[in-house]
Amino acid sequence: MIVPESPPLRIQGLRTPAALVDLRRLEANATRMARKASRLGVALRPHVKTHKCVEIGLIQSGGSPGPITVSTLAEARGFAHAGFRDITYAVPLPLPFLPDAAELGRRIRLNLLLDDEATLGSLEAFAEAQRMRFRAFLKVDCGYHRAGVDPQSDGALALARRLQASPGVEFLGILTHAGQSYACRSPEGARAVAEQERAVMDLFARQLRESGVRVESVSVGSTPTCCAAEGWAGVTEIRPGNYVFFDAFQAAIGSCEAEDALAFSVLATVIGHYPGRNELLLNAGALALSKDPGPVHVDPDCGFGGLYTAEGLPLPHLRLSSLSQEHGLIRGLAPIDYASLPVGSCLRVVPTHSCLAAACFDRYWVLVDGAVSEEWRRIGGW
Ligand SMILES: Cc1ncc(COP(=O)(O)O)c(C=O)c1O
Repeated sequence: MIVPESPPLRIQGLRTPAALVDLRRLEANATRMARKASRLGVALRPHVKTHKCVEIGLIQSGGSPGPITVSTLAEARGFAHAGFRDITYAVPLPLPFLPDAAELGRRIRLNLLLDDEATLGSLEAFAEAQRMRFRAFLKVDCGYHRAGVDPQSDGALALARRLQASPGVEFLGILTHAGQSYACRSPEGARAVAEQERAVMDLFARQLRESGVRVESVSVGSTPTCCAAEGWAGVTEIRPGNYVFFDAFQAAIGSCEAEDALAFSVLATVIGHYPGRNELLLNAGALALSKDPGPVHVDPDCGFGGLYTAEGLPLPHLRLSSLSQEHGLIRGLAPIDYASLPVGSCLRVVPTHSCLAAACFDRYWVLVDGAVSEEWRRIGGW
């Protein structure tokens, strides 16, 4: 929706806390990753869970609907409604969602992931009863130890064989997410994890092919590894998500430059001055920023996000030291210049984890040259 005010609405006119998206930075982030994917010879299937916003998904796919990854069926339905026709639902399927997945799977290419036999059995029974086929990846654990089969276990090969032979499933290939990259401290560390992610998947794909299993897609991706990777031999597609916004965590581990890549921030209002303890208070707490502890392995005193003036200039002498539900307490690392941040004025927080902070809002205010140009809605629910 285009914001009707003329001249453009100033951000100081927004009700806070408000979710802001810097359009030029977001476009630059999207273009950079799309070019890198193309240079390294892999398809880009962005994970839209970061923003859950159709307008941003369109920018990531170059203007018209392309392949995407989602984390909820609500996202899948919302993006399908907007014309996206090739969607990977990258969470192991909760069985009660089978009818919903089947309904959507009849309309678009909905790619599911599986990592256990019991789910496959239920899927096959459902598919037979409904006279249909699901599309599915085998989810692989490349070292994150959250979900996925251990590729070197006997069970992994057996499950891949079952998937390949299943009448109820079209087997697409193998998929992993190197979430362990978030423990890195530098691009060099993330590059080593990217290489681990690539090598584990390439080896497993070869082993499957040698045992007669056809593997078309080899899908990998996290923002730290996709930003750091220098080659993806054996991989067919990458699925980074956070890269379109980035955040204080990604800046701290070197996935991006804080100066020109941080595209998401939360506008908040100063609601209290406490000179006796050199602190001030914001009306943005955990329900506007999330309570992700951030990159404490890089800086134990990182606080809950980077602080900037309303115009976007850094305030490095301030630390967002604690959050309660609707309050954010800022501590001064040097005597706070209260005159420059009067009660009622606004400042911006770049949160530690933009995917979680963005989920606190139902819309984004889109900034171009510091003025609000559009309002974009998010898809909520599950
Ligand atoms: C399965 C899967 N793929 C891709 C991603 C995207 O990774 P990132 O958020 O680092 O961009 C995630 C994020 O959690 C994920 O769970």
